[in-house]
Amino acid sequence: TRRIGILTSGGDCAGLNATIRAVALRAHHGHGWTTVGVRYGTLGLLERPVEAVPLDPDRLSAALARQGGTFLGSTNRGDPFAFPMPDGSRKDRSGEMVEGLKQLGLEGLIGVGGDGSLAILRKLLAPSGIPFVGIPKTIDNDVGHTERAVGYSTAVAIATEALDRLQPTGTSHERTMVLEVMGRDAGHIAIAAAIAGGADVVLIPEVRWRLENVVAHIGRLRAVGRTSALVVVAEAAGQSDEAADPSADAPEHGVGDWLAKRLARATGAEARATVLGHVQRGAMPTAEDRLLASALGVRAVDLLAEGKGDHMVAWWNRQVIDVPLSKVVGRSRTVDPDGTLIRTARALGICLGDAV
Ligand code: F6P
Repeated sequence: TRRIGILTSGGDCAGLNATIRAVALRAHHGHGWTTVGVRYGTLGLLERPVEAVPLDPDRLSAALARQGGTFLGSTNRGDPFAFPMPDGSRKDRSGEMVEGLKQLGLEGLIGVGGDGSLAILRKLLAPSGIPFVGIPKTIDNDVGHTERAVGYSTAVAIATEALDRLQPTGTSHERTMVLEVMGRDAGHIAIAAAIAGGADVVLIPEVRWRLENVVAHIGRLRAVGRTSALVVVAEAAGQSDEAADPSADAPEHGVGDWLAKRLARATGAEARATVLGHVQRGAMPTAEDRLLASALGVRAVDLLAEGKGDHMVAWWNRQVIDVPLSKVVGRSRTVDPDGTLIRTARALGICLGDAV
C-alpha cells in the first residue's frame, strides 16, 4: 500500500485539523493508502527517528475537524535552506530533511501552508523525486490563484464579532474604537470584516490613505450627530502611508495604537485601540472553512493519485481546481483596488482614507 505524508507549515489557523482529516480519509477510503502525519512541519523531519505519526482513519473523528490549531504542530522556524542554528548561524539542512522523508518511505507529500511555506516545500521536494501537492491555508488569504485559503473565513468571522462587540461600548462612551486586525502584507481580513461588521473606516496596505482624510470623515460623522466611530486597520496598513504627509508617518508595527492616539488628538473624541492578534487564528473553524478544508484535502490526494505533483489545489469560481505551483509561488494575492470588496465598502460609505 502506498504511503503518503502530510504536514502543516507556518502559522496555524482554524481548519487545519479538518484538512488533515480529509486527506487521511480520502487516502484510505478512496485509494487504500496509508497517511503519515509529520510533526512540527519541516522541523519534524530533522529528528531521528523522524517525528511522524501514522494517521488511523478510524481515530480521526468529526470532532477533530471542529478543533482549531493543528494536532500535528507547526512551525515557521524550519527553513530547510537557512535553518537557524543555536550559535546564531544559518545552515542548509535540506538534505537531512529529504533523507527524513525517505526514511518514512513516503511516495507523496501534501503540505498545508501559505505562500512562503509552499515555495520552500516545493524547492525542498523538487530534487527528491517525491511528488508534492500544496493546500493553501492562511488567515491572511493572500495565496495566489485561489479565492480562498483555509482559515480566512474563521478569521473574518472573529474580526466581525469583535466589531459587533466594540460598537456598543464605543457608542456608550462616545469613543472612536480602532480595531487592528492581522494580515502580514494584505488587507483581506480588514476589508471583509469592515463591511460585515459595519465599520466607518478601513485602512489597508493596498490603498494609500492619509490620516487627514480619516479625521475629516470622522468629523463629518460627528457633524451629522454620530458620537462614535468604528475604525478597522490592517496591521500592514502602516506600510503604505503617504510620505507627503510626515505627520501621518504611521509605524510599521503598532499601527492600531498609533492611529487611536492620532485620531483622539485630531478629533477631540476619546479613542481606544484593540489589537486582535492571535485570537483570529484560534477558534473552531467556521462551516465555510471546514467545507473548504474538506474539499481541498480530498482533491489534493486525488492529484497525487493522478500523478500530478508540483500542483496546488485551489478554490475558484465555486469549485476546487488545481494550479501548477510555479504559478503560485512568489505571487501573493493582495486586495484588488477595483474589486468587489473595495467597491462595496465605498458604496456603503466606508472611508478608505484615500479621499475626503
Ligand atoms: O500569516 C499569518 C499571520 O497570522 C499574520 O497575519 C501575522 O502577521 C503573522 O502570521 C503573525 O505571526 P506570528 O504567529 O509568528 O506572530
